[in-house]
Amino acid sequence: MVKVVRCHEYGTPDVLRIDEVAPRDPGPGEIRVRLGACAVNYPDILSCAGKYQDKPEFPFSPGMEAAGEIIDCAGDVSGYQTGDRVMLWCGPKYDGYAEEVTLPADRAFAVPAGMSDVEAAGFMLVYGTAWHGLVDCGHLQAGETVAVHGASGGVGMAAVQLAKALGATVIASAGSDEKLAIVAAQGADHLINYTTEDIKVRLKALTAESGLNVAFDTVGGDAFRASLSAISPEGRILIVGFTSGDHAQAPINIILVKGASLIAVRFGWWSLAYPERTQQNHRELLALYAAGKLKPYVGRTYPLDQAVEALKALQNREVTGKIILTV
Ligand SMILES: NC(=O)c1ccc[n+]([C@@H]2O[C@H](COP(=O)([O-])OP(=O)(O)OC[C@H]3O[C@@H](n4cnc5c(N)ncnc54)[C@H](OP(=O)(O)O)[C@@H]3O)[C@@H](O)[C@H]2O)c1
Repeated sequence: MVKVVRCHEYGTPDVLRIDEVAPRDPGPGEIRVRLGACAVNYPDILSCAGKYQDKPEFPFSPGMEAAGEIIDCAGDVSGYQTGDRVMLWCGPKYDGYAEEVTLPADRAFAVPAGMSDVEAAGFMLVYGTAWHGLVDCGHLQAGETVAVHGASGGVGMAAVQLAKALGATVIASAGSDEKLAIVAAQGADHLINYTTEDIKVRLKALTAESGLNVAFDTVGGDAFRASLSAISPEGRILIVGFTSGDHAQAPINIILVKGASLIAVRFGWWSLAYPERTQQNHRELLALYAAGKLKPYVGRTYPLDQAVEALKALQNREVTGKIILTV
């Protein structure tokens, strides 16, 4: 039997239970993986609450991604073999907070030598979202100016590192000076504390000369309104998330006058719809990792059976960067 952390009813993270389930042999095209670490992401809280766009049947494990070692492969699987280390896209259907998971091999991505399970577990979703947002959706060019809102979170910090690696000037916004100091160490050029400063005034002032070409927004609300106010003609506002809980409205006359675009970023859906392009993006990201330009920042780890505490820490904005569950 193996431990799986699962949700049997919607609610706060307290609804999660640790279940003992029989491991499943791989079916056609599948691999079985012994997990070393599982990542905690903001959408996991939304899944527990029944507020995420994908709603798997009960009981389900809310984790989206994990990393470990393949311990069994179906005969028809090519490209992987027993003993290979992989990072996995589990959500929303396969167990992401678990000791083991059996899932289709096309949900696996290579782990480079030297990357630990703790780093690998939280790599794919945050950097994959950052790349898909900034490059596929935002067409970010070297020399452009990008604002990353929610820069202290998992996805936000990945976007800061990636935008710098791609040659952009980065304005990072976050909720405390302590968090911003860590974000600055990831390469951000300018910092805005949206708890103590007027984000609209500061963003306008910082982009008065350069213009604002791209906004990568995980927060919504005031951060979105600030981006709309500062965005340049042909600018791209990337809608990534709404951790503020404020689903801001955008008047279409302002968008027209600004000559800007609002672009929805949906990495989860996109990665399953376009697996080959996702693997290509992953290779690009691993090349930047190998060059030392991307460095996963793990703010805190918890053992798997403390998944509830880990989710509460995320919800309470206690942690900078990634939270990882160790198995
Ligand atoms: N579109 C996509 O494809 C995609 C993919 C992955 C994630 N997402 C979304 O992106 C967002 C960030 O995800 P994540 O996993 O990076 O989350 P995270 O690590 O928890 O980071 C979110 C950040 O948002 C900030 N925040 C501002 N107001 C908040 C509030 N009221 N409650 C909690 N945090 C608040 C926090 O920073 P401060 O304390 O510094 O303000 C926090 O660090 C989420 O909305 C998630 O659903 C979207």
